[in-house]
Amino acid sequence: MQFDVFTLLPEVFPPYLQSSILQRASQRGLMDVRVHNIRDYARDKHHTTDDTPYGGGGGMVMKPEPVFDAVESILGPEAGRPVILLTPQGRVFNQTVAQELSGREKIALICGRYEGVDERIRLHLVTDEISIGDYVLTGGEIPALIVIDAVARLLPGVLGDPDGAADDSHASGLLEYPHYTRPPEFRGESVPEVLLSGDHAKIARWRREQSLLRTLQRRPDILEKAKLSKSDLKFLKEHGYELKVED
Ligand code: ADE
Repeated sequence: MQFDVFTLLPEVFPPYLQSSILQRASQRGLMDVRVHNIRDYARDKHHTTDDTPYGGGGGMVMKPEPVFDAVESILGPEAGRPVILLTPQGRVFNQTVAQELSGREKIALICGRYEGVDERIRLHLVTDEISIGDYVLTGGEIPALIVIDAVARLLPGVLGDPDGAADDSHASGLLEYPHYTRPPEFRGESVPEVLLSGDHAKIARWRREQSLLRTLQRRPDILEKAKLSKSDLKFLKEHGYELKVED
């Protein structure tokens, strides 16, 4: 999968992409992140990429020309690939959006800076806008890295374990069950017996119930959208949860 990133801070990307599991994924040809400096496409001799807002007010606005020139000269006329602006005004990123994007061959990510971007960028260049949450950062670079990271780990072969992403928190609409490794006892806390039992059906049931309980306690909001079986609902009911049925 190819990611083309358009940014005024290209230097922030390599340190993260060249560490972590993502470096191995790039070396193995599973993903390719190409970072493009918007400033290289500014036409004046000072390479200006921002300007004061029409109508006054504080802050600076990203000019349209360098962004259009960068994106159009790199992507060419080919249509069909998502061109995503990272902005606090976008739809909120989550695991479903990550899964949706992981099915694309190529995506472009535009990192906003300053107070905002000229509206013509939104209107005529961008096909989708993504926010990583209801807070405001100084730019879209960290959000772009978050999107790349969450999408890349869903690509076949990126995680060592082929089922690695299947049990993730949020993958099934539930939070993940608790994990334990050696030693069997640590600071007075023992690993639950069932995990040492070797009984795979029992372990699977315990994990499912722990996922349900955790989600009920910590994120009841997502429980309403999760795919639940009859036995899940029965278990939740025993723990005080009543599914809201809409009329
Ligand atoms: N740029 C600044 N804040 C952001 C956010 N929350 N999500 C995406 N891009 C941003």
